[in-house]
Amino acid sequence: MGILDKHKVIEKNATLLLVLSLLVVTIGGIVEIAPLFYLENTIEKVEGVRPYSPLELEGRNIYIREGCYVCHSQMIRPMRDEVERYGHYSLAAESMYDHPFQWGSKRTGPDLARVGGRYSDEWHVDHLQNPQSVVPESVMPKYAFLERKLIDGAHVGDVMRTNALVGVPYTDEMLENAVEDFEVQIDPWGDTDGLLERYPGAQVRNFDGQPGISEMDALIAYLQMLGTLVDFSTFEPVASR
Ligand code: HEC
Repeated sequence: MGILDKHKVIEKNATLLLVLSLLVVTIGGIVEIAPLFYLENTIEKVEGVRPYSPLELEGRNIYIREGCYVCHSQMIRPMRDEVERYGHYSLAAESMYDHPFQWGSKRTGPDLARVGGRYSDEWHVDHLQNPQSVVPESVMPKYAFLERKLIDGAHVGDVMRTNALVGVPYTDEMLENAVEDFEVQIDPWGDTDGLLERYPGAQVRNFDGQPGISEMDALIAYLQMLGTLVDFSTFEPVASR
């Protein structure tokens, strides 16, 4: 009896075929899934990725509150058209401290995963105040009120503690200095050594150009750091190392 004849036995017996199919699928499933239970973390660590500074975190909260994610995704897929338009495809590590993540799939506006550094702060102020003043055909709503809403860092420590609870590595030192770090990030003449040591690469300046810390400052601080933490001139994916 040749091998094909033996296989005929299985093909002609529906019950045997079903039982053997289930066996094969089960083995395949175990081989794929079981190793995941022994990995502490499936996200590859990438140099440069750090938790958000207090001001950036506050800006992120405003981004979520205003529903910016309804029109903007934050995930560049590894396909040529996306990479050419938006830059290097998004890495899992880049959103590992996002609770909740902002990947999204709706793009009424462009993907914002790497919008940091693409425009000046002034452009962002003008654009958020009145998008149609810089992009006449834009359907984006106006957010001019953000500039008039001043904020203090009174609750930013609580937000950081909540993030720490779900796994963001905010240290005691970061939590103790939350308010100072929040305030000094818009003060180019302030003592920013501590801030920059805790949050390497944090951008320090008065983002909206107005006195006081406004929601506009926080939101632009967040937008300007999006996608800028990883240095892609030196980054190599694990597979190609
Ligand atoms: C109703 C959908 C909609 C909402 C809500 C929305 N946007 Fe937009 N956004 C757009 C569209 C459309 C564009 C492209 C035209 C333009 O630049 O205005 C855009 C463009 C942008 C750009 C420029 C991106 C680039 O690469 O050129 C930024 C930055 C931006 N939006 C930020 C925000 C932020 C922050 C919020 C929330 C406060 C927000 N958007 C809410 C639709 C929206």
